[in-house]
Amino acid sequence: MAIVRIPEENTTLTDVTSIRAYLGARGIEYDRWLPEPALAPDAAADLVLAAYAVKIDELKAQGGYVTADVIDVKFDTPGLDGMLARFNTEHWHDEDEVRLIVEGRGLFHIHRQDGPVFAIEVEAGDLIRVPRGTHHWFDLCGERRIRAIRLFQDPSGWTPHYTQSGVDRAFQPVCFGPAYFPPLQPAAGA
Ligand SMILES: [Fe+2]
Repeated sequence: MAIVRIPEENTTLTDVTSIRAYLGARGIEYDRWLPEPALAPDAAADLVLAAYAVKIDELKAQGGYVTADVIDVKFDTPGLDGMLARFNTEHWHDEDEVRLIVEGRGLFHIHRQDGPVFAIEVEAGDLIRVPRGTHHWFDLCGERRIRAIRLFQDPSGWTPHYTQSGVDRAFQPVCFGPAYFPPLQPAAGA
């Protein structure tokens, strides 16, 4: 389940009905979708796409998306800091940003011109569609892990346009949900 926070209003939303209503009123589609049966955690990308095919096809038909891929980052992914630096300052795209979270967590901040900045913390099973032109930025949570299906109308349309507003610097990229750290390995000889 996602968590929505509106720092300026000191408000946090944690139930699906409130989240869907709040986001829907602001042009952002939110839904929950998990494959049945559940995917193996280490399933290959083509198996992920196959497991989510029903939902992917539905989204393609609704939104005109033509391609889907799987982004997969971990704390030790080479070049992760450089990759995150492209996402974590305020920007917008010429097409929708559609993400179906398969594993891990992340934090979107949304900055509409007609209201306060709000944060959407997403985890496995969350589907989010941020309409084209919406100002936003994205951070990973503490465990720096996310695996998500991305849908594109035209992959070239997803190029970020940076606003250079600096507004992102006023918001801490802090996640609030439970962290999913791997269990500690017992020490040798223990
Ligand atoms: Fe983006």
